[in-house]
Amino acid sequence: MTRMVQDYREYLKEILIPEDVLQQRIAELAEEINRDYEGKVPLLVCILRGGVMFLTDLVRYLRIPHEIDFMAIQSYGVGRREPGEIRLTMDLQSSIRDRHVILVEDIIDTGHTISQVLRLLEVRQPKSIRVCVLLDKRARREVDVPIHYRGFEIPNYFVFGYGLDMDGYWRNLPFIAVPDLNKYRPPRTLPGEEKD
Ligand code: PRP
Repeated sequence: MTRMVQDYREYLKEILIPEDVLQQRIAELAEEINRDYEGKVPLLVCILRGGVMFLTDLVRYLRIPHEIDFMAIQSYGVGRREPGEIRLTMDLQSSIRDRHVILVEDIIDTGHTISQVLRLLEVRQPKSIRVCVLLDKRARREVDVPIHYRGFEIPNYFVFGYGLDMDGYWRNLPFIAVPDLNKYRPPRTLPGEEKD
């Protein structure tokens, strides 16, 4: 089988947030967290998979002691927009009872994912819980969510790179990019010689 994955440069329309701008803002967010949590030991919870790049860069700018943990969520269906339609596919390893929790997400769009994750975690009685998000696509919001640390507000564009994917690919790019969807061809698997 051969996996055909188009090179992103063929459909790259613009780089919305370049690497240096992204890193500078992440360092600023980390500074706010350093200040706000001085004397505390927060637990940073990354929601997989998109949040992973952001988390790993963010913690490199932290000077306060902290821990990290991960959880995975699956959203259902094509529109996947009805509230209640997420499923926890991987739970945290740590108990969050009496902990200061910071939820780390790559993007908030409709807000359903984060609001349900908050509901799920609040019953576990953390001492506090805050949301830290890199990209806020506010124009798409359907439910209100409290955001304590916000990297950038972005317009209603489809974006990829830096944790966000194009059908699973190009999460590794160090910048946030906008694709030209007219030039984009989804990955295909063809019968034939093994290439990978
Ligand atoms: C993205 C993102 C958020 C969610 C935001 O995840 O990481 O979790 O969508 O959308 P919402 O505010 O409309 O709920 P996605 O489902 O693309 O999964 P991934 O992180 O594994 O790529």
